[in-house]
Amino acid sequence: MSATPIVAPFPATRLRRLRRTERLRALTAEVNLTPANLIWPIFVTEIAGGEGEIASMPGVHRLTLDGAKRAAERAMDLGIPAICIFPHSDPDLKTDTCERAWDPENIGNRAIRAIKEAAPELAVMTDIALDPYNANGHDGIVRDGVIVNDESVECLVKMALTQAEAGADILGPSDMMDGRIGRLRAALEEAGHQDVAILSYAAKYASGFYGPFRDAVGASGRLVGDKKTYQINPANRDEAMRCVARDLAEGADMVMVKPGMPYLDICRMVRDQFAAPTFAYQVSGEYAMIEGAVRQGWLAREVVMESLLAFRRAGCDGVLTYFAPEVAEQLG
Ligand code: PBG
Repeated sequence: MSATPIVAPFPATRLRRLRRTERLRALTAEVNLTPANLIWPIFVTEIAGGEGEIASMPGVHRLTLDGAKRAAERAMDLGIPAICIFPHSDPDLKTDTCERAWDPENIGNRAIRAIKEAAPELAVMTDIALDPYNANGHDGIVRDGVIVNDESVECLVKMALTQAEAGADILGPSDMMDGRIGRLRAALEEAGHQDVAILSYAAKYASGFYGPFRDAVGASGRLVGDKKTYQINPANRDEAMRCVARDLAEGADMVMVKPGMPYLDICRMVRDQFAAPTFAYQVSGEYAMIEGAVRQGWLAREVVMESLLAFRRAGCDGVLTYFAPEVAEQLG
């Protein structure tokens, strides 16, 4: 949008002319949304009886491995190019040292293999952060109440290598430790995983909108303190730009802004500044607000599509959204 629009004075210009019919509106739509723009986040449980609907995310279910396979097949049928796995792991196996995060048999890695078996062509994205396997709910290793950076990065690298080994196509570091992208990229290269892509959660804010997600993965009761020493302060914009610049310089293939709707200004800035593949995460709290209001009858379901179109307008190539299957079906 660098051009200066020329607007002839009324009545020569009547902007309503092009809004008059459905066809004229379609012809002059500036952005569109297709299933190819969607990444579908799913929750996979290893806990017996852990499957079922998530109370704070009505309509979203934790899945068994078989359920994850069926979701993968559904994504393929709907033209959704990628699925993103979040583990709901056994609470009894969570430790402060997090070694299960790099166990090839952890639920995340088993889900990668199961999905790759069911739908080999579907892109599988992962989450790199220690929280699903950490007894205290943090994304990094905690020592004396401090989330220690460099030691956490070493753990994240081990975690990433097992995900790549299991067949992941896209790794999603969501941990916000410093220096992790460079270390991950080097380790992947060295291990022969040079074609595994990194979609960095580059501009991830310390947000209250993650609440329902933490319910979904069973981290809510556990988190000691908050994540403000590693996630970005919602007051900041320049800092987000520095994070994105840093991650791209370290070798991220794609970058993400998270949450989505409250941070559309950041999406637009990232797109304009870096012209790199840019994604937004319409997070669990955004899903809960929209789905909750629709179920109450306070909003019409068309707000779902409107909320996703906003990301395209803000310059995003795609969106991680729990609405992915519903919307892909509707776009059919
Ligand atoms: C954790 C992680 C979070 C989300 C994705 N990965 C939560 C957090 O940082 O506490 C949130 C996703 C959502 O809310 O939908 N590494």
